[in-house]
Amino acid sequence: MSKEYIIAFDQGTTSTRAIIFDKKGTICGIAQKELTQHYPKPGWVEHDPIEIATHQQEVFEEVIEKSSISIDQIAAIGITNQRETTVIWDKVTGEPIHNAIVWLDKRTSGICEQLKAQGLEEYVAKNTGLVIDSYFSGTKARWILDHVHGAQEKAEKGELLFGTIDSWLIWKFTQGKHHVTDHSNASRTLLYNILELDWDAKMLDALQIPKAMLPKVQHSSSNFGHFTYKEHQIPIYGVAGDQQASLFGQGGYKSGMAKNTYGTGCFMLMNTGKKPYQSKNGLLTTLCASLESDNIKYALEGSVFIAGASVQWLRDKLQVIDHAKETEAICEATIAADDLYVVPAFAGLGAPHWDMKAKGAIYGLTLDSGKNEIIKATIDALAYQSRDVLEAMVEDSGKQMKSLKVDGGATANNYLMQFQSDILNVEVDRPKMLEVTALGAAFLAGIQAGLWTKKDIAKLREVDTLFTPEITEYTRTKKYTGWKQAVARTKSSNQ
Ligand code: G3P
Repeated sequence: MSKEYIIAFDQGTTSTRAIIFDKKGTICGIAQKELTQHYPKPGWVEHDPIEIATHQQEVFEEVIEKSSISIDQIAAIGITNQRETTVIWDKVTGEPIHNAIVWLDKRTSGICEQLKAQGLEEYVAKNTGLVIDSYFSGTKARWILDHVHGAQEKAEKGELLFGTIDSWLIWKFTQGKHHVTDHSNASRTLLYNILELDWDAKMLDALQIPKAMLPKVQHSSSNFGHFTYKEHQIPIYGVAGDQQASLFGQGGYKSGMAKNTYGTGCFMLMNTGKKPYQSKNGLLTTLCASLESDNIKYALEGSVFIAGASVQWLRDKLQVIDHAKETEAICEATIAADDLYVVPAFAGLGAPHWDMKAKGAIYGLTLDSGKNEIIKATIDALAYQSRDVLEAMVEDSGKQMKSLKVDGGATANNYLMQFQSDILNVEVDRPKMLEVTALGAAFLAGIQAGLWTKKDIAKLREVDTLFTPEITEYTRTKKYTGWKQAVARTKSSNQ
């Protein structure tokens, strides 16, 4: 039986999915489970690593059972994951010693202040490509080692292992045989030197993280071991952090290409080629998904923490909508005051502001501001935040962007896509296939399995809609100036 299908495991912040793709990159089966969010204290976010691994196994089994595709037709598995989220587990028992600390979690801001006080900011930017912020894994690992009794000692003896979600899943699925990660995930830890392509001794020392607990770093498209299911062994041939996977899935393995993904957060990445750019405008330098046959490539990244999460806030906390998809019609039908702004700094502010202590705010409320006006201003904030990041990217790269490729759940909202194009003054290019993150992981696995070449996958992308700017420069400037003032008032230094 010929092996012509790939399964992507997409372990995101709010859900865990398994998706089967055929050779044309078409979805042939999908299974999904919601992931429980734990909020033990304000600003803290945790996941249960066992739930993550169990759900991933279950959605795999479900998608195989539901589809007409036999397991013998699966050539390989590609894994893509929420990045930075940190797990530490016992090498012998396989038990996590603490819940996973999620990328959105702010508990380590104090550890970050200590690193800043040691004068490490410039070193971190140059060598890890990152900023000192609680977003990244290193300080989360430090926190767990500090707060679980005896953990530091066990880590030093080599009895504990550290991993981002990809490492954890692979270790579980290979029965502890492979403790590995890929370049794209390693570059989000604050512990990895993106110039030397090795764990960074100075950062390990600053955070007192024993090297023995770190995974081996591989190319994103390479052999990560085998997933065992009944009598079958399926190779895991692709691994990448979700944002680098979607850049790859959008065809962003070429220098100069950029994409914006609207998930829990919103992440704009531009492939800048073989040389790392150090941002002067609050962006990150990160490693692209890597191929064994290719040079290492870098990307500039603007990470906005809250995008889809603010729509969940409308649904679950304010309870003003039942489903995210209602927002499109509400936004189309609502004429909100021009100066009503929701700044969703629910997890601080990410790029390009980097303010861990900022809190969300609404400005410009009047007696006629009802729930629909707040819904519209919340959706508009996704577009404004993306403009903040795009301005920094243009400034850093010196490249004027003409077209922006988009993907992720919120891109189904036509109002948002039009408003995004209006506010950026850039064409917004939405593909037919919106599951680009999973597709990117499938491509990485499929390339290693010999199913595709880079040339093959370039031909698979089909445009659904091109949104072009429709508002005047005067209106654009007025709206965006108001947004910038609202953000300035939200910063912790002004509160
Ligand atoms: O860096 C965090 C990012 O990887 C999370 O992505 O899609 O779960 O919002 P997502």
